Amino acid sequence: MSVTDPPRLSLKGDFPGLQTVAGDAWHYLDSAATAQKPQAVIDAMTRALGVDYATVHRGVYARSADMTLAYESARRRVAAFVGGKEEELVFTRGATEAINLVAATWGKANINAGDRVLISQLEHHSNIVPWQMLAERKGAKLDICPLTEDGRIDLDAAQAMLTGDHKLVALAHVSNVLGSVLDVQRAARLAHGVGAKLLVDGCQAVPRLPVDVAALGCDFYAFSAHKIYGPTAIGALWARSEILADMPPYQGGGAMIDKVSFERTTYAPPPQRFEAGTPAITEAVAFGAACDYVAEVGLETIHAHETALVAQLRDALVGMNDVTLFGPEDSAGIVSFLIDGIHPHDLGTILDEENVAIRAGHHCAQPLMDHLGVSATARASFGLYSDEADVAALLRGIERTKRIFG
Ligand SMILES: Cc1ncc(COP(=O)(O)O)c(C=O)c1O
Repeated sequence: MSVTDPPRLSLKGDFPGLQTVAGDAWHYLDSAATAQKPQAVIDAMTRALGVDYATVHRGVYARSADMTLAYESARRRVAAFVGGKEEELVFTRGATEAINLVAATWGKANINAGDRVLISQLEHHSNIVPWQMLAERKGAKLDICPLTEDGRIDLDAAQAMLTGDHKLVALAHVSNVLGSVLDVQRAARLAHGVGAKLLVDGCQAVPRLPVDVAALGCDFYAFSAHKIYGPTAIGALWARSEILADMPPYQGGGAMIDKVSFERTTYAPPPQRFEAGTPAITEAVAFGAACDYVAEVGLETIHAHETALVAQLRDALVGMNDVTLFGPEDSAGIVSFLIDGIHPHDLGTILDEENVAIRAGHHCAQPLMDHLGVSATARASFGLYSDEADVAALLRGIERTKRIFG
């Protein structure tokens, strides 16, 4: 499918959240912040909270054994969704916690004074602050890879910057502001070429592109369920088995131990070693259901669908002579822009009156805003349920906002 082909998915009917309380269409263009949930996910979560509910891993009764099977089956399906194995998949609270887990365990054990970590100018705060905190604690240095003119992570520059002192490269697979897609395979070759590991922040990629961690060649892959049509408060860290096996625990408590005594505690093997306490049971089950739903639609189809919508919106915005567009033409599902003389917050507020929801602000990427020379952008982001009517409603709302601002 070329980018000029029309979008082909028509899935709004699966998503009860895509209506206003009055029953009108709600043009939700903020899926990069969090995605709406299909009925299949809501049903899975409701069942898990209701008739199926019990704890996992500890109960001796049948309901608990069944729930343990459902929880571990979800782990298997989430892992398979990104091309990994169940023993490599740690449930976390989200991508943010997944990245913090790597910093607090692998980072603590492997990054020392004088070592360097390479991140990029476009990272989300979740993939900046944990490394800053670690670097401060350990006396390590943080290097910032610049972007190309059109807003991609400049891997030529990364190649020139990387040295034997670099222990980690941590980059976003898809930018949450620009939609630019990283060549992860090349990033992995570059990182491994100097003996560093590659962590990929896959938050925005997992809902938009087929992801196969084995083929990508990365070492860590972090993502959140709520961006792929699943619930909040759960996400995942995928990591290579041999790396996870060597990582010290993250938090201490129940479920992560092998044997506890006051003299000495030994720990469970991964992934349990990194899941202290009663886990997010119902969320995990619904996370599995979300992966099933997305897998059934197919990520090739979703990517082509969103790419066509991006092309439509970018074409229309380019046609307005008072709009600045950010990011490359082949952005994955995300379009950031500014209209001359209209603050993104004003645009967002007026669009809300038209039942159009966009994001306005720094998108948790303040260093990227500094680089772009702006304090905020307007951002429209698509999901598998988005369609041409959403694009048309946004464009109508933009025209109305311009009339209001004269
Ligand atoms: C690229 C990227 N990384 C990390 C995050 C953090 O995700 P969460 O808040 O679900 O932990 C986000 C969320 O917007 C994101 O877009």
